[in-house]
Amino acid sequence: MPAQPAHSLSVPVVIVGGGPAGLLLSHLLASEGVESLVLESRSRARIEATHRAGILEQGSVRLLAETGVSDRVHRDGHEHRGINLRVGGVSHRIDFQRLAGASTWLYPQTEVFVDLADARERDGGEVLFEVTDTEVDGLATPTPRVRFTQGGEAREVTCEVVVGADGSRSMCRDLVPKGERRRFGRTYPFAWFGILAEAPMSSQELIYTHSERGFALISSRTETLQRMYFQCDPNANPDTWADEAIWAELQARVSGHDGLELAEGPIVERSVLPFRSFVQEPMRHGRLVLAGDAAHTVPPTGAKGLNLALRDVEILAQELPRALRQGGAMPALDDYSARALARVWKAQHFSYWMTTMLHRPDGDPEQVDFDVRRSIGEIETLVDSEAGRRYLAEGYTGWPTTP
Ligand code: PHB
Repeated sequence: MPAQPAHSLSVPVVIVGGGPAGLLLSHLLASEGVESLVLESRSRARIEATHRAGILEQGSVRLLAETGVSDRVHRDGHEHRGINLRVGGVSHRIDFQRLAGASTWLYPQTEVFVDLADARERDGGEVLFEVTDTEVDGLATPTPRVRFTQGGEAREVTCEVVVGADGSRSMCRDLVPKGERRRFGRTYPFAWFGILAEAPMSSQELIYTHSERGFALISSRTETLQRMYFQCDPNANPDTWADEAIWAELQARVSGHDGLELAEGPIVERSVLPFRSFVQEPMRHGRLVLAGDAAHTVPPTGAKGLNLALRDVEILAQELPRALRQGGAMPALDDYSARALARVWKAQHFSYWMTTMLHRPDGDPEQVDFDVRRSIGEIETLVDSEAGRRYLAEGYTGWPTTP
C-alpha cells in the first residue's frame, strides 16, 4: 500500500468550528466511540477573552453535567429561580420555579468553552486552533475532503461527514447550493452597549428593563464583576462614551419610585453587540450538517443562542453515530433538520418577542410613541396574568425537547 502523505489522514467526522457547539459535539461523539477532528480559526486565548451571554437553561446545565463536561457549572454557576421585568420603574418578579418548575443558571459562555476545551484535552480529543484557509469539497461523494493550513503547513483530511459549527459568519452554510437552501432573517434598528464593571451586585436576579429611554439589562458575572447592557444605536462607538455617561444612562433607565440604585465601579470592558435574527433551512445537505449559530442567530434578549446550539448538538450526537454505521444516504440524519428547527423557530419567536416588547423602536416619532405606550400595555398585560407570566417562564427556562 502506498504510504500516506505525512499530513494526510482520515477521520469519520470533521467539525469546522471549535466553539461550544463544535467542542460539545466532539465530546459527545467520543463517548459513543466516534472520532472527530475539530478545526477552529481563532486561538484558544482569543475565544476565552470574548464575552458572550451568560444564561444556561436547565436542560443545558443537565447536558453539560451529565455528560461529564463540567461539574463547575453546579459549583461556580448561580441558580436563578426567576427574573425581574421592570416597567415604569416598577419590578415584577417572574418566579420560574413556581410557574414552570425550572431554573436557569448564570454561567458565562466563556466558562462553558473552557470546560469543553479542557474536557477534550483531558480525553485526548483532536482540536486544532488557529487553523486558516479551511476549504471543503467532495460533499457529493462518500468521502468529503477538508483542506486547511496549520502552523504554516497545508493539510488535508478525508471524512464521512462535515459538521459546520463555524458560528454566525459561517462559511460552511454557503456550501449548500443556493437552489437548495432558504434564508430567513431580520435586522433591528438597535444594538446593545455592553459593559463589565468591577462593582458589587446591584441585584441577585437579572432585571430586564423597559423605559422611555430604551431597554437596559442588569446581569452579573461574579460577586465583584457585573455585566450590564443598554440599548444603543448600532453605529455607536463605545470609546466615545465616558464612564460617567454610561452609568448615568443605565441609572436613568432603571430608576423608579422603589429607589433602585446601581452599584457603580470601574468599567473594565465595553463593546457594542449587533442584533440579528437569522435561519438557514435545511440544516443538513447530504454529508454536511449545520449546528448552532452557523444555521441560526437570535438577538441576545432572552439568551437563547448558546442553549439552542447545545440542543442541536444533543440531537446530532444521537443521530450521527447511527448514520455513520449506515453509510450511503445516511437515513438516520433525515430528521435532524426538522427536529432541530422545531425548537429553533420557537426560540426565534421568543427572542424576537422579548426584544420587540422591551426595546424602543425607531422611525416616525408618532409611531414610536405609540409603540412605546403599546409595549407598556403589553408588559402590564403579561405581568398581571398568571398565564402570561407562565408563558414567559416556560420560554425563558426552555421548552422540553421534542423526541
Ligand atoms: C448576560 O449576562 O450576558 C446576559 C444575560 C441575559 C441575556 C443576555 C445576556 O438575555
